Amino acid sequence: ATMSSEAELIHRFKGIPFTTRSSPELLKSLDTFDAREDDVLLVSYPKSGTHWLAGVITKLYNTQVTLTSPIEFGDISKLEELNKLSSKRIIPTHLDYNMLPSNFKNKKCKMIYISRNPKDTAVSMYHYYRDNPNLPTVDTWTAFFDLFLKGDVVCGSWFDHFLSWEEHENDKNILFLFYEDMKKDLPKIVNEISLFLGLNVSDNDIQDICKKSSFSEMKHNTEKENSDPSHTVCALTSNRKLIFRKGTVGDWKNHFTPKQNRRFEEIFNEKMKLSKM
Ligand code: A3P
Repeated sequence: ATMSSEAELIHRFKGIPFTTRSSPELLKSLDTFDAREDDVLLVSYPKSGTHWLAGVITKLYNTQVTLTSPIEFGDISKLEELNKLSSKRIIPTHLDYNMLPSNFKNKKCKMIYISRNPKDTAVSMYHYYRDNPNLPTVDTWTAFFDLFLKGDVVCGSWFDHFLSWEEHENDKNILFLFYEDMKKDLPKIVNEISLFLGLNVSDNDIQDICKKSSFSEMKHNTEKENSDPSHTVCALTSNRKLIFRKGTVGDWKNHFTPKQNRRFEEIFNEKMKLSKM
């Protein structure tokens, strides 16, 4: 059963597993995308805090902006759809740096990359695999743990994704953020984002944005609203209810065995040898 659902739900493009919600035609045509200089990209590996960050960013603007669905989500009509938008676009994506449409790079569009302790990302993704009908079945945490370390999950290896973006850490148009820093001091990070985007936001407004962006507020608001596909910024579901699970740092400790932890650290140290993280 696992194999057949895997075959129906997943296809590979340039070696990376995508769900069938991203059509091969769209993925092939991405590089023809016409970026605009004022586009803002919101980049993440899945389960790193994308929706949290999206909530913060949209609240920071007091001009008309459109938070689009992820650029790699949909079929061939997607790029035309994005072209038709007249307002400023905030465009989410889970693509690694190499697959990003080159126009975004040439035009030096602002990009915000959010990442999270990969141990917590793995746990969050495990629950997402279990709850999300768009993803293949996984029977146990142990089985998922192996898939995650092999990079045999949607969007490929966490390590490759992170490293492809970290290489551009010092590019002036890219801001690097960590989920854990947002948990520790959200006003500080919101202020940093506001400066990066060139917005003029008062301390009062920042406090207000932080209050409205708490896990409980965001979860609560989601339960009230009807699920609207334009409301997820994850290419893997349109159901916002699947996003707000626990929202904590360190949940990996409730899942990893000591042996899994050792194995994870070994692979982490090996893969991240050249990383500054
Ligand atoms: P958990 O599964 O660990 O709870 P993404 O938006 O990239 O899909 O990431 C989802 C993860 O971010 C989930 O992690 C979710 O609970 C967490 N999250 C979402 N909104 C949050 C918020 N306002 N504060 C803290 N964590 C949040």
